[in-house]
Amino acid sequence: MRLLIKICLIICLSSFFKINVSAGEKADLIKQNWPFDGFFGRFDQSSIQRGFQVYREVCAGCHGIKYIAYRDLANVGFTTDEIKSIASEYEILDGPNDEGEMFDRLAKPSDKFVGPYLNDKEARVANNGAYPPDLSLITKARAGGADYLYNLLNGYKDPPENLEISDGMYFNTIYPGNQIAMPMPIVDEIVEYEDETPATQDQIIRDVTSFLVWTAEPELEERKVLGIRVLIFLIIITLMLLAVKRKVWKDVE
Ligand code: HEC
Repeated sequence: MRLLIKICLIICLSSFFKINVSAGEKADLIKQNWPFDGFFGRFDQSSIQRGFQVYREVCAGCHGIKYIAYRDLANVGFTTDEIKSIASEYEILDGPNDEGEMFDRLAKPSDKFVGPYLNDKEARVANNGAYPPDLSLITKARAGGADYLYNLLNGYKDPPENLEISDGMYFNTIYPGNQIAMPMPIVDEIVEYEDETPATQDQIIRDVTSFLVWTAEPELEERKVLGIRVLIFLIIITLMLLAVKRKVWKDVE
């Protein structure tokens, strides 16, 4: 019983103090409080919806999100009609048809997000030789996850005087090597939010980060709910087994 209590305590404490067990995290990241962090973490749907707007209006010019389909947006509160109208803003190459030819058609809710480039080569040519990675899983692919992305997007500063920045590169305090081929994408009011949330640089970065945490793990909430259910189940069954054990052994001296 004591062991069980200790295990429960450790799990709860680690979620409160966010003891992060993943290795290799950069020490100089400023940690943020995210609603999806911790044992009882949940997504903030309106932040994710705003983040999707930021992705569409700012990042989608250079980055794709190939693992998410338009209809997945239903999970963050978009209606079927909204999803249909969002999808129909994009064109997709489909085919071959009965004549063996490829053809363009409007995207449907079941299509994956349409990316900005036809292939990797086109992406590199458009970005000075650098490859803008697909953002579907980016918060899983970098140590520090959401905090890394938040700090990276906030990490554009004036370079120190003695540092020479190569052509087409930008100074960023967080990116390894401090020179990144992505121009600073987010400034105050680069988007206008429909829900009248003030579009400060910090708010926009928080929203797009939340959105990209969702694209990397849309099932995060179910996973956490399942974890809590399993724990409750284990506690109940342990108590029941203890009661049975006491009953069976009660007459033995
Ligand atoms: C003008 C094109 C452009 C826009 C707009 C843009 N990016 Fe990028 N992004 C790039 C390029 C190019 C790279 C590759 C950088 C490199 O290799 O130095 C990159 C890299 C990244 C990386 C990977 C950094 C790493 O650690 O490797 C992330 C994350 C990222 N972008 C997020 C975003 C987000 C979020 C937005 C929208 C708010 C955005 N980008 C808008 C061009 C762009």
